[in-house]
Amino acid sequence: LAEIDVDVSQVEVGQSITAKWRGKPIFIRQRTEAEIEEARAVPLEELKDPIARNANLSGDAPATDENRATDGKEAWLVMVGVCTHLGCIPLGNSGPFDGWFCPCHGSAYDTAGRIRQGPAPTNMDIPPYTFTSDTTVRIG
Ligand code: FES
Repeated sequence: LAEIDVDVSQVEVGQSITAKWRGKPIFIRQRTEAEIEEARAVPLEELKDPIARNANLSGDAPATDENRATDGKEAWLVMVGVCTHLGCIPLGNSGPFDGWFCPCHGSAYDTAGRIRQGPAPTNMDIPPYTFTSDTTVRIG
């Protein structure tokens, strides 16, 4: 199936759900203010992967927090939940950067899903998506 609609009405601030799209987990998280601020405070030159990896933007868009989310829905992170090292599924709310931690070989991602430490080469991918209403995300 090319597109899926996900109801996010039950996802509170600080919570996540996992949808499935093209056989892959999609993490959908409503981030807290603190998580957003933490991501925005990181200078781009500190990022291991400076590219947004956001299918909704051009391929060279920088990995700012804004470019990892979407306009008007900055709290939401919609992301392919697959470690870019060798494809394990990272754990949420984990690791030294308060984002995701991959238990397979220790890659740590920040609150914008950007790789910060460990062997993974790139940020976790942002799939094509749009909010079709305040509570529905269409992925694909
Ligand atoms: Fe995630 Fe290796 S698969 S660190």
